[in-house]
Amino acid sequence: MPDQNNPPRIISGQAIDEDARLDASVRPKSLAEYIGQKRVKDNIQIAIEAARSRGEALDHVLLYGPPGLGKTTLAQIIAHEMNVPIKTSAGPLLDRKGDLTAVLTGLEAREVFFLDEIHRLQPAVEEVLYPAMEDFRVDLIIGQGPGARVHPFPLAHFTLVGATTRAGLITAPLRSRFGIVHRLDFYEPADLLIILHRSAKILNIQMDESGAEVIARRCRGTPRVANRLLRRTRDFAEVRAAGRITREVAQDSLRMLGVDESGLDEVDRNLMLALLDKYAGGPVGLGTLAAVLSEEEDAIEEIYEPYLMQIGMIDRTPRGRVATPRAYEYFGRQLPKRQPRLF
Ligand code: ADE
Repeated sequence: MPDQNNPPRIISGQAIDEDARLDASVRPKSLAEYIGQKRVKDNIQIAIEAARSRGEALDHVLLYGPPGLGKTTLAQIIAHEMNVPIKTSAGPLLDRKGDLTAVLTGLEAREVFFLDEIHRLQPAVEEVLYPAMEDFRVDLIIGQGPGARVHPFPLAHFTLVGATTRAGLITAPLRSRFGIVHRLDFYEPADLLIILHRSAKILNIQMDESGAEVIARRCRGTPRVANRLLRRTRDFAEVRAAGRITREVAQDSLRMLGVDESGLDEVDRNLMLALLDKYAGGPVGLGTLAAVLSEEEDAIEEIYEPYLMQIGMIDRTPRGRVATPRAYEYFGRQLPKRQPRLF
């Protein structure tokens, strides 16, 4: 969910309003069109073909990983490939057991139910999912107090596709009920180039290879960010250049947006500088970092840290976050003589 207190950031993998509209036009509809995540794609393809040939529902699927890597897209593709409808909800939207029961009892055979932010389900609501996933049954409670009775109600054999940015927060009973579990990783630059060219073609944007390379390198391995930077750079190209995205246009545009050569924005830089300068490279606790940056702890853990860890700028240790030697070099700081414990 976008954070109400902090403005959306250009490099955040989280969807902002504009993305919801515009992503739809460039979102791949079939597995064949879906670029990257080869291992995940290959595995899902086999499972889909097998389920289809048996005429059964696909096993429940859990997708996890940082925001913007294509979890929602994959859920829609699964429904498309299975030739079935899809219903969508999210953990925080299902306040009461009855909200979830209403959705579950309305599902058709083999239909996909996409449940985003599944780690944010209330425990009581989550418990409704257990028999639903395992035995395709919900237990309706009729009446109250001593006279209350449990009525098992059969459900159609549906497929739950759960998505989360926080696999560590999924309870063991829930996780164990998914037959297919995959982590989506940050995309390789080569895959991002293909995605960018594909989006540019769909959106009728003129872009050189060298322009695409600049965006691919600075989009944090995240297609949603790549597509967002592409649209902003198109605006820049139309206003400041001849409408074509070249290397220089892309570089100038991203400089204006405050996105540096490694895809870091101001919050990343402030985070790293706090860690390096204020706390001598760490270790620093998450709560302290969040307070210093006036950011939510969740945003730091879900958006900023995964990428900073991926590119080797910070490490998580039991005592807190520490800056790596690469971070000292990148920000032009002198590496201290005595290293933090990890190195
Ligand atoms: N757009 C966003 N993600 C994509 C992907 N994985 N493949 C193709 N186009 C995309």
